[in-house]
Amino acid sequence: MSRPSVFVTGAASGIGRATALQFARHGYRVGAFDVDASGLDSLAAAQSDIVTGILDVTDSGAWARALSEFCPDGRLDILVNNAGILSSGPFEDTPPERHRRIVDVNVTGTVLGCHSAFEYLRRTPGAQVVNLCSASAIYGQRDLATYSATKFAVRGLTEALELEWGRHDIRVFALWPVFVDTAMTQNMNAGAIRTLGIHLTADDVAAELYAATRPGRAWGRVHRAVGWQARVFAAAAQCSPARLNRLANQWVTRR
Ligand SMILES: NC(=O)c1ccc[n+]([C@@H]2O[C@H](COP(=O)([O-])OP(=O)(O)OC[C@H]3O[C@@H](n4cnc5c(N)ncnc54)[C@H](O)[C@@H]3O)[C@@H](O)[C@H]2O)c1
Repeated sequence: MSRPSVFVTGAASGIGRATALQFARHGYRVGAFDVDASGLDSLAAAQSDIVTGILDVTDSGAWARALSEFCPDGRLDILVNNAGILSSGPFEDTPPERHRRIVDVNVTGTVLGCHSAFEYLRRTPGAQVVNLCSASAIYGQRDLATYSATKFAVRGLTEALELEWGRHDIRVFALWPVFVDTAMTQNMNAGAIRTLGIHLTADDVAAELYAATRPGRAWGRVHRAVGWQARVFAAAAQCSPARLNRLANQWVTRR
C-alpha cells in the first residue's frame, strides 16, 4: 500500500516545519511548500525524504503546479493550510499594502488551497483539510486587527466547507492555538501577548494537529482550541454575554 500523503504550506519555519517533521516521522509522504527557499533547504537537510518546493499561496497557477507535481496519482490525504503572516501594533500605523497582503496570504491563500486541492481530496477516501485558525478568531484583537479579521474569515470558510464537503467524504476542521513561540510572535507589539505570555511551542501544535487527524478522534469537532488558555477563552466566549466578552477582551488586550 502506498504511503498516505500530506501537503503543508508555510512549512519552512514554525508550526508548518514542525508539522512536516511530525508527519514524516509517522511515515507520511510529506510535501513542504513555502516562499522561503533557505528555510526549506534547512528542513530538507533535517529530513531528507520530505519533498520541498516553492509555493506562494496567493498564486493559483503555482498551487496547480505544486499539487500536480506532488500528487502524480491524483490523490491527497491531508492538506494543511498553514502559511500565514501578521503585523502588530496600532491599525493606522501599518501601511495599507501590508494590510492587503495579510488578507491575501491568510484568506486568499487558504481559499485557493482548498479550491486547488479539491479534486485531489475528493478522489481520496477519508481526505482531510486542516486550516490554521487562531484564538484571535474568538474576539477581534486590539493591535492585531487585520490578522484577527483574517482568522475570522478562516473560521467561516472552515465551517462552510465542513458542511459542504461532507458529501464528498472530505473532513474539514481548524486548529485554534493561542500564542506560539515562533518567528511570528517575536517582537510582537500587542497587549494580549504581554498579558498572556507564550506557553506553546510549534511542536505542541504539530503534535495536536497530527493527533486530530487520527481516525475516530473526536471527529465532528470543527474547531479545536490548542493550549489551556485558548480552551478557556473559547469555552467562556460561548456562554458569556457580548458585553462581558468585550470587557474581558478589553482587559486581555490592554496596552
Ligand atoms: N505563532 C502563533 O502564535 C500562532 C497562533 C495561532 C495561529 N498561528 C497560525 O499558524 C500559522 C503558522 O504560523 P507560525 O507561527 O508558524 O509563523 P511563522 O512565521 O514561523 O511561519 C509562517 C510561514 O509561512 C510562510 N509564508 C508566508 N507567506 C507565504 C506565502 N505567501 N506563501 C507560502 N508561504 C508563506 C513563511 O515563509 C513562514 O515559513 C499561521 O497561519 C498563523 O497565523 C500562529
